[in-house]
Amino acid sequence: MAMSSFLLFVDITVILMLCISLCHGAVEDDRKVYIAYLGAAPDREDIATSQHSAMLQSLSTLSSVENYLIKSYKRSFNGFAAKLTNEEAKKLASFKEVVSVFPSKVYHLQTTRSWDFLGLNQTVKRNATAESNVIVGVLDSGIWPESDSFSDEGFGPPPKKWKGACKGGQNFTCNNKLIGARAYHSDSARDMDGHGTHTASTAAGNNVVNASFYGLAEGIARGGVPSARIAAYKVCDDKECTSEDILAGFDDAIADGVDLISVSLGLDIPVYFYQDSVAIGAFHAAEKGVLVMQSAGNSGTTGFQFVSSVAPWILSVAASTTDRLFVDKVVLGNGWKTLTGLSVNSFSLNRTKVPLVYGLQATSYCNEADARACHGHCLNKTLVKNKIVLCDEMDGVDAAYDAGALGVITKYDLDDVSFVVPLPAITLSSKDYDLVISYFNSTKEPKAEIFRSETIKDKFAPKVASFSSRGPNAFVPDILKPDISAPGVDILAAYSPVASPSTTTTDPRRVKYNIISGTSMSCPHVAGVAAYVKTFHPHWSPSAIKSALMTTAFPMDAPRNQGAEFAYGSGHINPVKAIDPGLVYDTVEGDNIRFLCSIGYDEGSIKIIAGNNTSCPKNSTKMLPRDFNYPTLTALVPAGKPFKVTFHRTVTNVGVARSTYNATIAALSELEIKVVPQVLSFKCLTEKMSYKVTVSGKALGGRSMASATLIWSDDTHDVRNPVVIHTYEAISGLFESHD
Ligand SMILES: *[C@@H]1O[C@H](CO)[C@@H](O)[C@H](O)[C@H]1NC(C)=O
Ligand SMILES: *[C@@H]1O[C@H](CO)[C@@H](O)[C@H](O)[C@H]1NC(C)=O
Ligand SMILES: *[C@@H]1O[C@H](CO)[C@@H](O)[C@H](O)[C@H]1NC(C)=O
Ligand SMILES: *[C@@H]1O[C@H](CO)[C@@H](O)[C@H](O)[C@H]1NC(C)=O
Ligand SMILES: *[C@@H]1O[C@H](CO)[C@@H](O)[C@H](O)[C@H]1NC(C)=O
Ligand SMILES: *[C@@H]1O[C@H](CO)[C@@H](O)[C@H](O)[C@H]1NC(C)=O
Ligand SMILES: *[C@@H]1O[C@H](CO)[C@@H](O)[C@H](O)[C@H]1NC(C)=O
Ligand SMILES: *[C@@H]1O[C@H](CO)[C@@H](O)[C@H](O)[C@H]1NC(C)=O
Ligand SMILES: *[C@@H]1O[C@H](CO)[C@@H](O)[C@H](O)[C@H]1NC(C)=O
Ligand SMILES: *[C@@H]1O[C@H](CO)[C@@H](O)[C@H](O)[C@H]1NC(C)=O
Ligand SMILES: *[C@@H]1O[C@H](CO)[C@@H](O)[C@H](O)[C@H]1NC(C)=O
Repeated sequence: MAMSSFLLFVDITVILMLCISLCHGAVEDDRKVYIAYLGAAPDREDIATSQHSAMLQSLSTLSSVENYLIKSYKRSFNGFAAKLTNEEAKKLASFKEVVSVFPSKVYHLQTTRSWDFLGLNQTVKRNATAESNVIVGVLDSGIWPESDSFSDEGFGPPPKKWKGACKGGQNFTCNNKLIGARAYHSDSARDMDGHGTHTASTAAGNNVVNASFYGLAEGIARGGVPSARIAAYKVCDDKECTSEDILAGFDDAIADGVDLISVSLGLDIPVYFYQDSVAIGAFHAAEKGVLVMQSAGNSGTTGFQFVSSVAPWILSVAASTTDRLFVDKVVLGNGWKTLTGLSVNSFSLNRTKVPLVYGLQATSYCNEADARACHGHCLNKTLVKNKIVLCDEMDGVDAAYDAGALGVITKYDLDDVSFVVPLPAITLSSKDYDLVISYFNSTKEPKAEIFRSETIKDKFAPKVASFSSRGPNAFVPDILKPDISAPGVDILAAYSPVASPSTTTTDPRRVKYNIISGTSMSCPHVAGVAAYVKTFHPHWSPSAIKSALMTTAFPMDAPRNQGAEFAYGSGHINPVKAIDPGLVYDTVEGDNIRFLCSIGYDEGSIKIIAGNNTSCPKNSTKMLPRDFNYPTLTALVPAGKPFKVTFHRTVTNVGVARSTYNATIAALSELEIKVVPQVLSFKCLTEKMSYKVTVSGKALGGRSMASATLIWSDDTHDVRNPVVIHTYEAISGLFESHD
């Protein structure tokens, strides 16, 4: 049952996606955008450019190359994007210099409008000197350079390692805080949407006092590393981002010398690594020592296996709530009933009772179902004027606003997110909404009053947001995804002052700080924390930083989070602990390639990802994907049979030179876990030690899981490693296949 609806949904999504990318990429005579990969970065960039033109020229069907060549990549890898027919793409793929050719896709910014806030507090230990040497790269919708969050007061010149540029277009000025900007799809890196400004300021924005959304959530808006520098790469426009622009962003960011890259965008469903520019770009970043974090996706609890950030060299981030909830109230009649709902409502009706009208009765031309929901243009302006409209669906908010209603009462789809609304509007649970309808039915002159939002404390936080995509990993069932959870609900951060703060495009308000939600918002929180860790450990590898964030995460409560580890991975990020993890799981050179070999990728697929002629080491086919040196231990086992699986791991001591760690298993679990050896005794720093874990248990049902936590502890550190055994088969055949 669950399985079949999941399949149906995926099928529809694939069709839609293909349509989008065709419609988007299509030009006259059936040309589509293809990306051609030519291997490792060339020695000279000018030679690469002429090579790209010459190759296109030799596809004799093209009249003038300039019209077809879209991008040249030559800084961190060699390749280009061009508009080609299928035949030309095939021909190009046969050239001996060409490693691979694959079609472009359309990616989306992963915001479900709404907000909240996490923070390293202001008294936490910091090294401002080290922090000002960290450069956070953000691939997004651009940035608003004049925002207070990016002012460079008190900043010295950019770090010496910076090799980037300010190419934000006309009337775009960088400074010593925002040290670089580039744009790919448009002439300017200026953020007309708000998303990129929001994510960049969340990761590394300045401390800005008295920030608020119309007085709501007033306080200090700040990024995780306020003294760090920002480089913005505008790869998205109108909330859409293409494969070729994303790759161009990675090509530049890596070569410009950023320390880490925050990517709050993705596809709606997972695709194979060799079809995913984020996986490909992040692979090159990892090889150059740059950690990439990506939002897990906003597909929510529609089904499992929807997390779309699945590569083990990426840190994939789920979104969770914080302890601040935005609520508002509606009072029915003369105080007959007061109901509490969700929304970010900055308006006040000034204690006036307003007549209610139901969408069903406020139309002259729509059918009953559309009228109840207030769809499209169903509402009659005359009938809603000076009234509060009842709409069965949330998009009634836009419709009622456009029809000139005074307010809206609607029913929510998600019970943990508050959306910014363009008029006094409240969303209620189904139960409360039905109460309003009963009241409406029961009286001749129904009236109501909607109050401005307030913030209250949510004692159940953190809880993984309902919209946050769930695992397990659809392609590599033995690598747990998402990796970690961070605040992504109701986040206040800087915004573009030319964009509508709500999803209603006709909302005329303009703000400097806005409240929005999504895994897009959680990703830069993790980028901020990774940067913070980097200030204490400038030489740690991307995998060591990732391990530090994961093994120190706060445990989250399985019963209260649908999907448990498939929702939150290792748990909720814990910035202060992350700087002192004790032990880390580091990967060594070649591990990523060996991993790809272990999951059966052929040379063709590996070439697309690594961009060169790397082939599988002879013995790598013997390696098991679950033995990839990852901070979580996950295995797919067949359903309906008792199982026994082993894992091998190697930890590196980064805590105290002489230290002894004991293994314990936390939480009651149906899993039986044996760790050998049970004690690891280190004599010096950077010493590595290996251990083996055997997990056995009784038969599991289909599409189910069992989990426990292995903890290595000395006197001061707890190194937490979730152990997840499940029966969700890898997905194949459903998604677009290789060429
Ligand atoms: C700030 O955080 C540190 C570490 O978590 C904690 O010890 C301290 O009490 C916090 N200070 C305030 C003012 O909240
Ligand atoms: C702060 O960082 C700088 C540069 O990395 C380093 O030289 C200095 O020793 C650090 N200071 C402290 C107090 O750790
Ligand atoms: C440059 O951009 C800023 C911010 O949008 C605007 O206020 C200013 O008028 C612009 N200047 C020019 C010369 O276009
Ligand atoms: C912040 O706002 C408070 C009251 O709203 C005011 O007293 C204070 O001066 C403001 N601070 C700054 C730096 O604007
Ligand atoms: C409520 O009063 C405020 C301040 O007087 C005013 O700005 C606002 O427009 C009023 N709201 C309505 C719905 O009349
Ligand atoms: C809207 O309702 C008013 C009042 O009932 C009616 O006169 C008008 O014709 C309606 N408008 C449309 C477009 O149906
Ligand atoms: C309200 O009245 C309509 C008919 O007038 C009826 O169909 C509906 O069930 C009633 N709803 C509630 C919640 O009482
Ligand atoms: C091929 O790519 C891998 C991964 O980027 C890199 O480690 C290796 O050095 C490259 N080999 C050549 C010959 O460029
Ligand atoms: C890859 O290897 C093939 C065959 O060994 C060779 O013809 C081709 O030039 C190589 N490509 C690159 C980019 O090194
Ligand atoms: C494969 O061989 C290399 C070099 O001989 C060795 O370091 C590595 O441990 C081997 N890997 C496996 C999985 O046997
Ligand atoms: C580890 O285990 C040993 C013996 O089992 C015990 O003596 C020691 O106190 C333990 N250490 C810690 C940190 O729990």
